[in-house]
Amino acid sequence: MKTNLSKKIPVAVLGATGAVGQRFVQLLADHPWFEVVALTGSVRSVGKAYGETRWVLDGDPPETARNLIIRHSTPDLPAKLVFSALPSSHAKEIEPRFAAAGYAVCSNASAYRQAAGVPLIIPEVNGDHLVLIKRQRAERGWPGLIVTSPNCTTSGLAMTLKPLDDAFGVRQVFVTTMQAVSGAGYPGVSYLDIDGNVIPYIGGEEDKIENEACILLGHIENDSRRAADFLVSAQANRVPVFDGHTLSIAVGFERKPSPEEATRVLVDFPGLDLPSAPPRPVLVRSEADRPQPRRDRSTAEGMAVTVGRIRECPILDLRMVSVVHNTLRGAASGSILNAELLVAEGYL
Ligand SMILES: NC(=O)c1ccc[n+]([C@@H]2O[C@H](COP(=O)([O-])OP(=O)(O)OC[C@H]3O[C@@H](n4cnc5c(N)ncnc54)[C@H](OP(=O)(O)O)[C@@H]3O)[C@@H](O)[C@H]2O)c1
Repeated sequence: MKTNLSKKIPVAVLGATGAVGQRFVQLLADHPWFEVVALTGSVRSVGKAYGETRWVLDGDPPETARNLIIRHSTPDLPAKLVFSALPSSHAKEIEPRFAAAGYAVCSNASAYRQAAGVPLIIPEVNGDHLVLIKRQRAERGWPGLIVTSPNCTTSGLAMTLKPLDDAFGVRQVFVTTMQAVSGAGYPGVSYLDIDGNVIPYIGGEEDKIENEACILLGHIENDSRRAADFLVSAQANRVPVFDGHTLSIAVGFERKPSPEEATRVLVDFPGLDLPSAPPRPVLVRSEADRPQPRRDRSTAEGMAVTVGRIRECPILDLRMVSVVHNTLRGAASGSILNAELLVAEGYL
């Protein structure tokens, strides 16, 4: 996929003051194809310069964004493409207004992930699902479009399962997650609740993991999405880790692979030629005590999923552990990669 743009595409970030919105602004500051020209927030922030709002990431907001004045999330922004880091309840109302006004929306919110005709994409896993945009435009009459990226935890699960499913046929999955506090946004979980503790409940998370994994590994049939028919059972926990979700996964297959065969297909899972794509989407570690969120979440700029402890399972076939960076691959960077795919495939 060789793409040469004569000038950068103007983009906006909706919900730019939140945990994911700030990641977008940080990552887009030096992007070769995209230039941030507008930022939005809630009424709490509208009218302020971006540099005056509370920055929750390391370092400072990029110079290029500091003087942008936060705007309302209305489709009058001087951009062609908008990245949405809005809470889902607001995304449900706001994103279609942008698509109807001709903008391409790359969304992190869950509002349209499971809607008919709206692609839910991880480019290395199911980039071919972009063909749904044709149906989306025909049915909804939008000159623009909405493409969604999955829940942060599901990104790590789907990237681990995809090469295994292609090679051996996934039948059953048990996944227990240990999810970082940044996954709850800002200000998120109270320190008094999470310090030295594990909270065995994240509202709505288990359903998202179970449903979105099957959508991502599904296929397109007659312009419709057909979800994979394997079973997923998820148990989600919030743990006192800042960034990086850990997934403890057991998988049953149609054809049981050895740990060595599974390792080989994971290592061989090919990358894409896009600016934010890592050369290898999955990295396999052989140490007995890896992956760990603090040590492995930033592999390949937070875009690779690290898998380890691949071994036999006495109940299903194999067990393994995966780590995914929740605000990078699992959110902002994953959505930027979707936008790059849209450009490379000629949708923008
Ligand atoms: N955190 C993660 O790891 C993660 C991963 C994947 C997906 N997501 C999804 O990404 C989205 C953002 O999550 P987050 O963690 O960044 O949440 P967050 O920290 O709570 O940020 C929410 C953002 O939305 C803005 N906002 C709220 N109401 C708005 C409105 N009516 N109009 C415009 N902007 C409005 C807020 O602006 P103000 O600051 O001005 O109030 C803030 O910028 C959510 O849908 C979430 O489910 C999050």
